[in-house]
Amino acid sequence: MINDFVYDIPVRVYFGRDQLHHLGAELSRYGKRVLMTYGGGSIKRIGLYDRVVKEIRDAGLELYELPGIEPNPRIDSVRRGAQMCKEHNIDVLLAVGGGSTIDATKFIAAGACVDFDPWDFLDLSKRAPVERALPIVDILTLSATGSEMDSGGVISNPSTNDKIGRLDPKLLPKVSFLDPTNTFTVSPYQTACGAADMMSHIIEVYFNMEPDFFMLDCFMEGMMKTILRYAPVAMREPENYEARANLMWTSSWAINGFVNAGKRLAWSCHPMEHELSAYYDITHGLGLAILTPRWLEYCLDESTVSRYAQWGVNVFGISASLPPMEIARKAIAELSHFLFGVLQLKRTLTEVGIDATHFATMAHKAAGGDVLPGFKPLRPADVEAIYRMCL
Ligand code: NZQ
Ligand code: ZN
Repeated sequence: MINDFVYDIPVRVYFGRDQLHHLGAELSRYGKRVLMTYGGGSIKRIGLYDRVVKEIRDAGLELYELPGIEPNPRIDSVRRGAQMCKEHNIDVLLAVGGGSTIDATKFIAAGACVDFDPWDFLDLSKRAPVERALPIVDILTLSATGSEMDSGGVISNPSTNDKIGRLDPKLLPKVSFLDPTNTFTVSPYQTACGAADMMSHIIEVYFNMEPDFFMLDCFMEGMMKTILRYAPVAMREPENYEARANLMWTSSWAINGFVNAGKRLAWSCHPMEHELSAYYDITHGLGLAILTPRWLEYCLDESTVSRYAQWGVNVFGISASLPPMEIARKAIAELSHFLFGVLQLKRTLTEVGIDATHFATMAHKAAGGDVLPGFKPLRPADVEAIYRMCL
C-alpha cells in the first residue's frame, strides 16, 4: 500500500544560462537590503561575483557581504551572518555558492530572527524551534547537496566535534538560480564528490523497507543512470553543458522531497558520514563514497536481496536471469567501480588519514546513542563494524 503524502516544495527555479537578469526583481520582492553570502572566493575567480553585484546595483538595492563561508560550514560563520543581519536590518539573503554557503545561509536567516545563539537550532539537547527566517535566494555553483531545493542544512561546531543537520520548511529558499555554466569550473574532484553525494541521496531513499512505489522507483533509477552517465563526462569535459545540466537538475530532484513521498524514511550513510566530517573535516561526498558500498554490503541478506537485485538489473544492466544474490554482489561491485575507478575517489578511510581512534564515539553519536533506524536498524556496534570495513 502506498502511503499518503503531501508534496509542497514552493521554490521558484530559474534554470539555464540566461536567467540572472531576473535576480534584481526577485530580490526586490523581499526588500532593499541584501546580504550576499559566499565561500572562499571561487565566485570571484569565475566572474560570477561581478555579474551578481551589477544586477544588485542596477536594481537599486543596498548590498552587504559575508565572504569566507567554509566547506563544512561552521557555526561561527552563521553567528557572524546573523549578527550582520541584525546590525544592518537585512531584508533578504542571497547565497552564492555550493551547499556549504546555502546551508549556512539558511541558519543565518533563522538566526537573524532570534536573540539566542543559532547553535540552539541544531544542538540536539535544545532544538529551538524555527519560528521565522529571512527570505533566501540562492545562486548555485556546485551540483551536489540539493540544498537549493530542500529545507535542510548541516552545520559544524568544531568546539564540540559536532556536525548536525536540521530540516524546517521555513528554511527553504524562495528562489534558486540554477545555471549549469556556473559549474563549469568545478574541479574533477569536487564534481566526483558531488556525484557521489547525489547518488547517496537517492540510494538512501531507494534502499528502505517502505512499500514500493513503481513510478518513484523508475524515477530514482533514471536519476542514478543519469549520474553514471554524466559525471564522467563532466570530469573529462568540464564545459559540457549537457552533462552539467543533467547533474544540476538531478542534484535538486534527488533530495527535494519528491522521491520520498509518503515513505517514513531514516537515512543511514549520512549520519555515519557526518561524524567523519565532524571529526576529520573531510569532504562530504568523499566520505559517502567510502561508506556507501560497505553499508550496502553489511545490509545484504536474504531479507533485503530483492531490492539489490532490482537495482542491479535496472540501473547497472545486470542480467535478471542470474540468482538474486549474485546480482546484488555484482551491483555493489559496479557501484564501487564507478566511485573508485571512474570517479577516481579514494577507496578507504586509511587513504584519507582516518584510523579507528574515534570509531566507537562516532558510532555511538551516529546511532543517537541507541539505534540508527533505516534500511536495516544499526546499533553502535554495527556502525562501528561498517567504519572498520572502510579501513
Ligand atoms: O568556497 P569556495 O571558494 O566557493 O569554493 C568551493 C569549496 O571549496 C568550491 N566551489 C564551489 N563552487 C565552485 C567551486 N569551485 C570552483 N568553481 C565553482 N563553481 O567547492 C568547494 C566545496 O564547496 P561546498 O559548498 O562545501 O560543497 P557542497 O556543495 O558539496 O556542500 C557540502 C556541504 O553540504 C552539506 C554537507 O554536509 C557539506 O557540509 N550537505 C547539505 C545537504 C542539504 N542541505 O540538504 C545535504 C547533503 O547531504 C550534505 O550533508
Ligand atoms: Zn549528502
